[in-house]
Amino acid sequence: MSYLPIQQLLKTAPVGTEVTVKGWVRTKRESKNAIFIALNDGSTINNIQVVAEAGQLTEETLKLITTGACLAVTGELVESQGAGQAVEVKISNVHIYGTADPDKYPLQPKRHSLEFLREIAHLRPRTNTFSAILRIRHALAFAVHKYFNDNGFYYLNTPIITASDAEGAGEMFRVTTLDAIKPPLTEEGKVDYAQDFFGRETNLTVSGQLEGELGALALGKIYTFGPTFRAENSNTTRHLAEFWMIEPEMAFFELEDNMNLAEDFVKTVIRYALQHCADDLAFLDNRLKEEEKTKKKEEQSELGLLEKLQFVISNEFVRLTYTEAIDILVNSKPAKKGQFQYEVSWGVDLQSEHERYLVEKHFRKPVILTNYPREIKAFYMKQDEDSSASPGPTVRAMDVLFPGIGEIIGGSQREDNLDKLVARMQEVGIDPETIWWYLDTRRFGSAPHAGFGLGFERLVLFVTGMGNIRDVIPFPRAPKTAEF
Ligand code: 4AD
Ligand code: MG
Repeated sequence: MSYLPIQQLLKTAPVGTEVTVKGWVRTKRESKNAIFIALNDGSTINNIQVVAEAGQLTEETLKLITTGACLAVTGELVESQGAGQAVEVKISNVHIYGTADPDKYPLQPKRHSLEFLREIAHLRPRTNTFSAILRIRHALAFAVHKYFNDNGFYYLNTPIITASDAEGAGEMFRVTTLDAIKPPLTEEGKVDYAQDFFGRETNLTVSGQLEGELGALALGKIYTFGPTFRAENSNTTRHLAEFWMIEPEMAFFELEDNMNLAEDFVKTVIRYALQHCADDLAFLDNRLKEEEKTKKKEEQSELGLLEKLQFVISNEFVRLTYTEAIDILVNSKPAKKGQFQYEVSWGVDLQSEHERYLVEKHFRKPVILTNYPREIKAFYMKQDEDSSASPGPTVRAMDVLFPGIGEIIGGSQREDNLDKLVARMQEVGIDPETIWWYLDTRRFGSAPHAGFGLGFERLVLFVTGMGNIRDVIPFPRAPKTAEF
């Protein structure tokens, strides 16, 4: 039989046939009668064991078969004598593609710390943990496209280089071809971007939403799924400078429809991972259990990874307003005992400690918070007609909060009234002229619409049970981190 990835071979190849497997050596073990080599080719978490009789391979060959070396092995697929695997390959021929000097190859068959593996991000996909994460990441990305395709959304590619700051937060990376040392200056002595490549100041996008809205008000339902950049200098386990965001935007959707979509969407993609990544999730579930054992009893989580995923897809998310959440927080034990690092009161932006209290301690379920104060949200959110239940004006915002993560989704219904939108922009100091094209959607055939953004890495973080966002993207970009 010709070469098959191990994943397929384990599923389809009949015992008794000749097979060729290709992959990297994970371990080599010698007994009196035989040599056992575990090969992995990245197609699955499962290794294939290949076996040679003692004396079958020359000393010279054996010496080169070390952890990390790449081999092609041909032989008969037989039922395994040992425990741990159903089948194995009886070696008839070995070809060594590439050796890996054991004195220099950094990955050895032992547990390496995640911190160490981050320093060798070019090799860490060859470990069980990272290959499992990367396969799950792939499955989730596929599930995202599948979900939207199945539900009548069109994939819209919004620009990566933009002249607008969609979130108005000013956390952007500049894109320029001007001379860094001696840029052309205007008469006032400022950098003259009119002479820059695009003839204006441009940045890497912080969100595809504004262009997404243009798409929704033409195609009905669209989504974006692309790289997003934020120059916020937060060295946290939840932030990246370059991350992938999924942003659906829907004409004729109001806040309630938006929440329903968000909930159905995340549940569906998590369910997809449970159905299609069983081996990898079982591996990570186990890994987490081992890790939990090293923690103090009171810090251990009650649910294992698989239980947690099952729990999320089989329970309704709790929905409440920001104002109601503040009430709960103000009256909570940690607030009364002064245990929150940041104080809570109506009007403050919730910190992740507050979000996690609501999700992990109070409700013990994913939560959707709505109707936030206008002052802490972006200019484009639809203003609530009636904010009488709250101490101040609110907008039709929604954040989805997840256990262990905090905010995983942020979104809103959009302000579709031109006058209100322009007035709000002026209040927060955005010149309406700079995004005249965005305002045209409110001038011509405006319609109620809504959308949200899901941080893809935060989703992968949740599904894999990892603790640091830098471990769920192949090559993380964060402050002072751009090596690979
Ligand atoms: O809440 P955010 O800033 O919302 C927007 O950008 C809207 N334009 C989305 C929309 O309505 N279309 O970001 C959305 C999500 C967050 O909930 C979070 O999951 C993720 O993007 N996110 C980050 N993920 C990793 N690293 C960062 N620095 C992130 N900033 C936001
Ligand atoms: Mg947000």
